[in-house]
This record gives sequence, C-alpha cells and structure tokens, in this order.
Amino acid sequence: MNEQMKEAMNTRHTVRKFDGTPLSDADKQSLNSRIDELNAKLGLSIILTESEKTPLNMMGKLVLGGEGVSTYFILAVDEKNDAEELLGYASSDLILYAQTLGLNTWWMGGTFNRKLVSAIVPGKMVTGIIAVGHGKTQGVPHKSKTPDMVSSYSGEAPEWFNNGVKAALLAPTALNKQAFRIEGSGNKVRLTYKSGPMSGSDKGIVKHHFELGAGKENFEWE
Ligand SMILES: Cc1cc2nc3c(=O)[nH]c(=O)nc-3n(C[C@H](O)[C@H](O)[C@H](O)COP(=O)(O)O)c2cc1C
Repeated sequence: MNEQMKEAMNTRHTVRKFDGTPLSDADKQSLNSRIDELNAKLGLSIILTESEKTPLNMMGKLVLGGEGVSTYFILAVDEKNDAEELLGYASSDLILYAQTLGLNTWWMGGTFNRKLVSAIVPGKMVTGIIAVGHGKTQGVPHKSKTPDMVSSYSGEAPEWFNNGVKAALLAPTALNKQAFRIEGSGNKVRLTYKSGPMSGSDKGIVKHHFELGAGKENFEWE
C-alpha cells in the first residue's frame, strides 16, 4: 500500500471536471473505512457525502468550470487548536488513497457553497471539501519550485531527506503557493509554512507528503 501511495503522489493532479458517474459501492466502502481510521486516529469528523445540489459556488462553477461534482469529502472537526493542520494531514492521505483506487480529486478551500456544506455537519468547523470521482482528464503536473528554493540541510543531505523534499513539492497547496521551508539537521526535520488563509491545511498536506517520501522511520519532526 505504501508503494501505491507513493506512486499516487506522482500521478495525482487536481481535476475540476468529472464525468458524473457515481462511485461504485466498493469504492465508497473503501473510502469510508479509510475515513473511519483517520477520524479515530486524529480525532476528526470527516465524512463522505453525496448531494443532488452542487456544492460548488459561483466561482467554482462559472470561473473555474467545475463539472460533475456530486460526491465529496467534508473536512470537518469539533473546534480545536491544530485542527486545520490535522485535517490537512488527513486530507492528503485521502486524496492519495482515492488516487490508488483510480479516482480523481479536487481540494477546495474557497470555491464551495459554505452554507450548504455547513448545514450537512451542524456545529462542526469545516476547512474545506474535496470532490472525488472519475475525472474527464487526469489533470496536469503543477508548476513547481525547486528543492533549493524550499529546503536546506546542514551538511550533506541524506537520500531520505531529498526524497522527502521531492515528495513535498508534489503536494497540492492553496493557489499552488508552496510557501513552505524544510530544514534538516541529523535526523531532525523542521517544517515551517508562511502564514496565510489556508496555511494550516497546506502545512498538514506537505507534512504528510514529506513523511511518505522520506520514510517516517528515518527522521523526527522538530
Ligand atoms: C488547502 C487548499 C485549498 C484549495 N482551494 C482551492 C479552491 O478553493 N478552488 C480551487 O479551484 N482549487 C483549490 N485548491 C487546489 C489548488 O489550486 C491545487 O492543488 C494547486 O494548484 C496544485 O495543483 P495540483 O493539485 O494539480 O498539484 C486548493 C488546494 C489546497 C491544498
């Protein structure tokens, strides 16, 4: 499974047009078990939902041309301190896992109908939704910064560190900002993210991608 998840980091790209075919029962079951595991482990309230009414807002529909979005994850939690980062972390696992099932995804922090979505999970904080389904295309790789622009290591960087940075650069970030910095020394790694509207979510996603690329057994977060 780990190898498939790593492969999914390379093949996953945002897709905004879906063909509208519903997910199979088997896919829904797989995604729901994955959600259950993440919710239990991290104390989150993520759900997979289907709605007849589109969850996209005007921007998502008209400006970005979103299509065929009917099934989506709602990234929800009871208010708590590092909730955004935890939801980001869990969302990274979900988009890559969906990719291993042959599905495509679209992370949305802004271009969804917040009123409609919040009413589905009353009392919860919602950081975003992720459309999941069969894309009309597989999307394209995002424009990326280079490892030098986002990382440094004191001394010669080991292979696991370089692999982690490469993986972090494949992570989706809001507006493709990639506003992170990864610093390594010995087996310690520090990740910082320039603060901004979606920086908590981005940080969690980048953290998850780095761990997958570097191998959790090789280092410790500082
Ligand atoms: C936290 C977060 C919020 C995002 N919000 C939106 C959004 O509101 N609308 C949208 O169209 N894309 C949104 N995206 C998708 C990004 O634009 C996209 O991930 C980025 O451009 C990188 O492209 P990739 O996913 O193909 O690698 C968001 C992504 C993240 C991680």
